[in-house]
Amino acid sequence: MKKTILSGSTVTGNLTLGNYIGAINNWKQLQDEYNCYYFLADLHALTVQQDPPTLKQRIYSFYAQYLALGLDPQKNIIFVQSHIHEHAELTWILTCLTPMGYLNRMTQFKEKAEKHVKNINAGLFTYPVLMAADILLYQADLVPVGEDQRQHLELCRDIVGFFDRGYKKGLFKMPEAHIGKTGARIMSLQDPTKKMSKSDENDKNFISIIDDPKKIEKKIKSAATDSGTDIQFDEENKPGISNLLTIYSVLSGKNISQLETEYAGKMYGHLKVDLAELVLETLKPVKEKHDDLMKNLDYLDDLMKSGAERAQLRARKTLHDVYEATGLVLRKP
Ligand code: TYM
Repeated sequence: MKKTILSGSTVTGNLTLGNYIGAINNWKQLQDEYNCYYFLADLHALTVQQDPPTLKQRIYSFYAQYLALGLDPQKNIIFVQSHIHEHAELTWILTCLTPMGYLNRMTQFKEKAEKHVKNINAGLFTYPVLMAADILLYQADLVPVGEDQRQHLELCRDIVGFFDRGYKKGLFKMPEAHIGKTGARIMSLQDPTKKMSKSDENDKNFISIIDDPKKIEKKIKSAATDSGTDIQFDEENKPGISNLLTIYSVLSGKNISQLETEYAGKMYGHLKVDLAELVLETLKPVKEKHDDLMKNLDYLDDLMKSGAERAQLRARKTLHDVYEATGLVLRKP
């Protein structure tokens, strides 16, 4: 029996190089060995104010970005979260088991609440419970994510414990986070002390995987670097150069000490020129494939439909078992 993997990304902005390196690149490597569910978290996106036509366009674009990055819709079950109503239903049951104090500790909630002072809605607070429902509905063994999601994964594991004690032990599989050794936290280009984020207001801080090539080149060449001249990995004293080396290492497959040797005696500018070339080489076919897929939304609709049908088989079974375990009376078929 193959183990089950589940992961997703929230539909805001466009996927960045951080999302690719920290998560989707790992998803791709797992697609042959595991039973994989990859989804677009469009319900999560509603925790911040959305412009409906833009959101709709973005859902198609994210689906196309997943495919363009190399996720195979035959090997994986790729679906849109809101197409499976079971996510919202399981969230309610889990919300009723989750103490407020646990949600209060979530650092992402605190950060987002600071950023969206005019819209601190209840969804922003219960967001991690929806995330737990996403994972538990599919009985995932492993959840490949970047470092910033570790705390949410811990909460999901706590919620399994609450359900075990409250209703039925062992109904949910205990999921494990799968976090890559290199690239689990790609940093902002202009401020390498904070994470690269697709919802950053400053466009220069991130590289979208479907950015215009000229823009990508410019962003890399103007990335903030550190004082000194040596190209050495030192996250504390040289966060800018260390971030560029990490990106280089993941995209080239060379390890960091190998890169330090290659660039000994060279200037920061040399590294930036080579890195820009490597990023463009990686992302050019991705943008082309994405743009091509976006010309045929009917095709994307068909893939979304078959992904949802396959995903729902699993989700329906889990929700049925949960309703039964909680004492709800099941409606006759
Ligand atoms: P999201 O959309 O913020 O990010 C998607 C994935 O990309 C990783 N990531 C990064 N990795 C390295 N460096 C970065 N700068 C960087 N930025 C983002 C994230 O860790 C994530 O793995 N709440 C989730 C989406 C979600 C989910 C789930 C994930 C909803 N339900 C269930 C896993 C399982 C989110 O907003 O990810």
